[in-house]
Amino acid sequence: MSDFNQNINASETYAPTPELSAKAHVKSMEEYQRMYKASIEDAESFWGEMAKQFHWQTPFEKVGPEFNFDRSKGPVSVKWFQGGKTNLSYNCLDRNVQEGNGDKPAMYHEGNDVDDVHASFTYSQLLVKVCQLANALKEEGVKKGDRVSVYLPMVAELPSAMLACARLGAVHSVVFGGFSAESLAGRIIDAQSSVVITADGVMRGAKPVQLKAITDKACELTSQGGFEVRRVVCVARLKGTARGDQAKHSWAEGRDVWYSDFVGKQAETCECEWMDSEDPLFMLYTSGSTGKPKGVLHTTGGYMLSSFATMKYTFDYHPEDVYFCTADCGWITGHSYVTYGPMLNAATQVLFEGVPTYPEVDRFWKVCEKYKVSIFYTAPTAIRSLMKSGDEPVTRNDLSSLRLLGSVGEPINPEAWKWYHRVVGGGRCAIADTYWQTETGSHLITPLVGAMTCKPGSASLPFFGVEPAILDENGKEQEGECSGRLVLKRPMPSMMRTVYGDHQRFEETYFSQFNGYYFTGDGCKRDKDGYYWLTGRMDDVINVSGHRIGTAEVESALVAHSKVAEAAVVGFPHDIKGEGIWCYITLNEGVAYDDALKAELKKQVREVIGAFAQPDEIHWAPGLPKTRSGKIMRRVLRKLALPDFETQDLGDTSTLADPSVVEVLKSYHPRKK
Ligand code: PRX
Repeated sequence: MSDFNQNINASETYAPTPELSAKAHVKSMEEYQRMYKASIEDAESFWGEMAKQFHWQTPFEKVGPEFNFDRSKGPVSVKWFQGGKTNLSYNCLDRNVQEGNGDKPAMYHEGNDVDDVHASFTYSQLLVKVCQLANALKEEGVKKGDRVSVYLPMVAELPSAMLACARLGAVHSVVFGGFSAESLAGRIIDAQSSVVITADGVMRGAKPVQLKAITDKACELTSQGGFEVRRVVCVARLKGTARGDQAKHSWAEGRDVWYSDFVGKQAETCECEWMDSEDPLFMLYTSGSTGKPKGVLHTTGGYMLSSFATMKYTFDYHPEDVYFCTADCGWITGHSYVTYGPMLNAATQVLFEGVPTYPEVDRFWKVCEKYKVSIFYTAPTAIRSLMKSGDEPVTRNDLSSLRLLGSVGEPINPEAWKWYHRVVGGGRCAIADTYWQTETGSHLITPLVGAMTCKPGSASLPFFGVEPAILDENGKEQEGECSGRLVLKRPMPSMMRTVYGDHQRFEETYFSQFNGYYFTGDGCKRDKDGYYWLTGRMDDVINVSGHRIGTAEVESALVAHSKVAEAAVVGFPHDIKGEGIWCYITLNEGVAYDDALKAELKKQVREVIGAFAQPDEIHWAPGLPKTRSGKIMRRVLRKLALPDFETQDLGDTSTLADPSVVEVLKSYHPRKK
């Protein structure tokens, strides 16, 4: 962020309002500091006490953590709540019903089309729905440890499917509905899931997304790869509605079954499988700097505690709150802050299927007004894009119910923070800028808004149980005001345990750079008050609209095109998306570069990865800047993708095998047009 140094030194701060502090679970800095200290120095009592409110079929013997981050001392491992047996589905549903929350609304479904309410459920109703699906899956042969792939839009069946899997001890692998057939197939094969739950389609704004047709294609691809999907369960999302004619798909007799037939007359109760604290709960694929996306594996007991605690304290959740998180369950935010965190707190939430700009740019605010939302959680990219439409679409709605706003997925620039605060929050709502990752499962650094003064652009201070450090390039811990690489010295309860099926990759990805530490991959500064300021990824991962994309993934999608010889992909600053995708491509001998090919290459990436990974720019590169040993000099490519590329200091280019390629790239620069 160009104004970064100016921000970090800015004196602009936002103290908690007295109303917020008075009501908050944590009311002051002193209280936060005391609780934080206890969470680090006496994790046993801190988390052990909190865990008591949940149902443990067998009590845990030890809270932990028992862990090893030092590869020289043996395999990296993390264990919490050992000896305990519990079940997330039970704690999200049965426990709430038993505690008198059975008639409390668990979710209001807000469809893509205004007034198209697919279904809303109380906790009792949701429990029945989940039990019936769990029974159907059981009849299908799904048992503890089996993997189930879920490729659904934001309908009640999505969190239900997650909870039904959790009930049986099956490991859910939710794949975001924006991924392509090829991506879905890769994830099905990696997880070896013989059951896939999908929908006939869904409207996103004015456009249909053919989820079933994409699933059909994915099954064809897995089949070619030697893996057969045995059962496809299909939710009739469009069929039978006014949009029924939009769903276009085939039907494989014997394999495909409609959700309603699948669940049929299943019993309304279903015994839980009691899971060890360290039994897997779910896997979720995420991109890194190398290779194919990896299945981040989360387990039971620790994940339950962290998702519960962060929901309660970060969002200062109270039983009367109405909560609305705009994230899709296809991402970690939807796992921890749509499905598990809110339900472990018996919260009432809005499940939103649509997009922020349909039918108009005030859709989020209309939803907030309609349900009297008090806690709203979204991504900076959405805030930036809505900010472009001005204040009126926000202020024409009654947002007086809002009291807390959250941000997630990427750094929020102070300008967007202040607009969010002033216009959406009416100057009275606190903002929790939550920094975390798929791998950590829950918030790492975030303000506790009743206790802390916020600084726009800073995620503030570590959450309970999180012990961050900032290292210099030699791995030395820095003190006080500093900048460097953000690492963790210990695991919080929801830390990932492994990469599914590849523990070595887990160790190499996160623990090989700095022995004894988990490396987040992020750069970070700490200011004089101890506040953390995230500065972005330090690896070859681009954060596009809060979605993590590995440059290597885009490169491999591009070189799979018959006309492409080589590709190099970098991120560049983008006003709305945070970062955009810039692709340098070298073509095969004799292939001409034109607009048609450019469009074809964008389509290629859409088809291989998904629409959200579509390149912003294709830059024809007759040659790429390489060192004599053949390594692409990415720092040069990053600078050449900047708006002021002509005046950029490219640094030392004397080691380039052919320094003239830089001038050639400048002469074919897309920004020149
Ligand atoms: O670079 C950080 C950025 O997003 C990465 C994690 O992406 P993902 O696993 O897809 O999870 C997104 C939802 C948690 C981080 O390594 N990131 C996430 N939140 C923030 C952030 N960067 C700065 N500030 C944030 N609040």
